Amino acid sequence: MNLKKLAGEKAVEFITDGMTIGLGTGSTVNWTIRKLGELVKQREIQIRAIPTSQQTSYLANELGIPLVTFAQSTELDLTIDGADEFNSSLDLIKGRGGALVREKLVAAASNRLIIVADESKSVEKIGKFPLPIEVVPFAWEVTAKRIEGLNCVPTLRRVNGCPYVSDNGNYILDCSFGYIENPAKLERTIKLLPGVVDTGLFISMADTVIIGTSNELKVLSKKN
Ligand code: A5P
Repeated sequence: MNLKKLAGEKAVEFITDGMTIGLGTGSTVNWTIRKLGELVKQREIQIRAIPTSQQTSYLANELGIPLVTFAQSTELDLTIDGADEFNSSLDLIKGRGGALVREKLVAAASNRLIIVADESKSVEKIGKFPLPIEVVPFAWEVTAKRIEGLNCVPTLRRVNGCPYVSDNGNYILDCSFGYIENPAKLERTIKLLPGVVDTGLFISMADTVIIGTSNELKVLSKKN
């Protein structure tokens, strides 16, 4: 069973006619986007969407999903996106796909954030894998040193030996903090550092996580 497909396709049920939605990035939400593309093609639903990456923009265009920008709408009804890790408080680590800055901007402009993931992304404490932090390329070495001072090992993300460049023209540092005891505090601390654009910590942003497990679909919702 493809658990990412199971969770990704389920999320389409939360999209209703007339909505303006945010479309996330990654292999799980791609299933949502493909399913949504079918509904749009069959004229079963009319929506407009803001993509969180070039990659998602290409896919949505290919499927005929109408795209807009924040010039047309500064408020979104809903965003559906993937995650690299989530805990029971629905705090997330995102950004392994390199789209964290736009993902956070789109999520923050949305009335609701739904995460789609397979069960491998569920963790007791976040920080199992390195935390992606997007930084300005100028003086990135200095920024990396400052981040290192927070007790972690930062590694510049590379592709074929060259620094990975995000859709915003920035670099990404994958920072091994180990398990993060206080994600909200760490997020505030990192964001104060000069050169940091944003971090992959998404704290108190997700409302719902749809999880594909080998037995069933599980839905976690934010406790109010
Ligand atoms: C993109 O930058 C990420 O935040 C993705 O949403 C995240 O890596 C999940 O990706 P998958 O659905 O491919 O696992």
